[in-house]
Amino acid sequence: MKSLNLLTLTMVAGALLAFTARAGIVGSPHDFHTQSWNTDPSDPATVCGTCHVPHHADSTVVPLWGHQTTSSAFRMYNTNNVPVSSMQAAVAASPNGPSLACLSCHDGTVAINTYGGVGYYTTHGPASFITNSANLGTDLTHSHPISVTYNSALVGTGVGQDEWLWNPDTTYVLQPDSGLFIPGNNMTINGFLLNGSHTVECTSCHDVHNQEGTPYDINNNPKLVKIVGTQAGVGSLLCRSCHNK
Ligand code: HEC
Ligand code: HEC
Ligand code: HEC
Ligand code: HEC
Repeated sequence: MKSLNLLTLTMVAGALLAFTARAGIVGSPHDFHTQSWNTDPSDPATVCGTCHVPHHADSTVVPLWGHQTTSSAFRMYNTNNVPVSSMQAAVAASPNGPSLACLSCHDGTVAINTYGGVGYYTTHGPASFITNSANLGTDLTHSHPISVTYNSALVGTGVGQDEWLWNPDTTYVLQPDSGLFIPGNNMTINGFLLNGSHTVECTSCHDVHNQEGTPYDINNNPKLVKIVGTQAGVGSLLCRSCHNK
C-alpha cells in the first residue's frame, strides 16, 4: 500500500510538472485579466473571454470566436508593391480565419476590449487599441505573406513551383538543441506550423495559447514565436524549417 502511494505521488508530481511547463495565456502578452475593463459578472478577470465565447460565436473565424472581427480591406502580400517577388503560391484575396482573428486587434482598427459574440459585441469600458509596434496595420505587404497555400504541390522545379521550400508533409521542423521546447503531436511542417491546414497564417509562426513550441519569456521569447533557439549553434530555426535556404 505504502509503495503504491509513493508511486501515485510520483505520477501526480510528474503530471504537475508536465502541466506547469505548458505556460498558457496567463502571464503572456494576451493575458488581460488585470485590466480595469475586465469585469463581466459571469467571468470576472476573464482569460479566454476576450477572444472566445461559449454562445453567439462567429465560428467562421476560428472555433467559438467572440471578439469583434475587423472589417478592414487588407492589401495582401504581392498584390501590389512587391516588385521582385518570386512567390509561386496563391495568396488569398483577404486573410483567412486564423489570421483575421489576430488582425482583429493587431490591425489597430478594433478595440482590444470589444467582444461578446455576434449581435452582442460591446466595448467594455473606454476603447483600448494597440498603438505600438505590435500594430501591424492593414497593408500586409509589410509582413511575411499570410493566407498562402503551402502544400506538397507547391514544392518542386516545375512551373508554378518553388524548389527552395521543404515538403510540408514529409519534412520535420528544426528543434532547438537546448532550452525548454514543447513538441506537438505531429512535428512535420504541416502538423506543427500549418496546424494541418496547408496554409501559412499568423498562427504558423506564433502560438497565442503559449502551449507548444518555445514558451513565452520576456527575455528569450517576447514575441511568442513557435521555434526559438539554435541547433548546432545555428539559429533562424523557424524560417529554415520551411525554407531550404
Ligand atoms: C488573444 C486571443 C485568444 C485568447 C485570449 C484565447 N484564444 Fe483560443 N484561440 C484563439 C485563436 C486565434 C484560435 C485559432 C487558432 C489557434 O488554434 O491558434 C484559438 C483556438 C482555440 C481552440 C481550438 C483549437 C485549438 O488550438 O485547440 C481552443 C480549444 C481554444 N482556443 C481555447 C482557448 C481557451 C480555453 C482560452 C483561455 C485559456 C483561450 N483559447 C484564449 C485565440 C485566443
Ligand atoms: C510555415 C512555413 C514558413 C515559415 C516558418 C517561414 N516561411 Fe517564408 N514563406 C513560406 C511560403 C510557403 C512562402 C511562399 C513561397 C512561394 O510562393 O514561392 C514564403 C515566402 C517567403 C519569402 C518570399 C516572398 C517573395 O515575395 O518572394 C521570403 C523572403 C520569406 N518567406 C522569408 C521568410 C523568413 C525570413 C522567415 C522567418 C522569419 C520565414 N520566411 C518563415 C513559408 C514559410
Ligand atoms: C483581443 C486582442 C488581441 C488578439 C485577438 C490578438 N492579440 Fe496579440 N496582442 C494583443 C495586445 C494588446 C498585445 C500587447 C501589445 C503591446 O502593448 O505590446 C499583444 C501582443 C502580441 C505579441 C507580442 C508583441 C510584442 O511586440 O511584444 C504577439 C507576437 C502577438 N500579440 C501575436 C498575436 C497573434 C499571432 C494573434 C492571433 C493568433 C493575436 N496576437 C491575437 C492583443 C491581441
Ligand atoms: C513566417 C512567420 C511569421 C508569420 C506568418 C507572422 N509572424 Fe509575427 N513575427 C514573427 C517573428 C519571427 C517575430 C519576431 C521578430 C523580431 O523579434 O524581430 C514576429 C513579431 C510579431 C509581432 C511583434 C512586432 C513588433 O514589432 O512589436 C507581432 C505583433 C506579430 N508578430 C503578430 C503577427 C500577426 C498578427 C501575424 C499575422 C498577420 C503574424 N505575426 C504573422 C514571425 C511571423
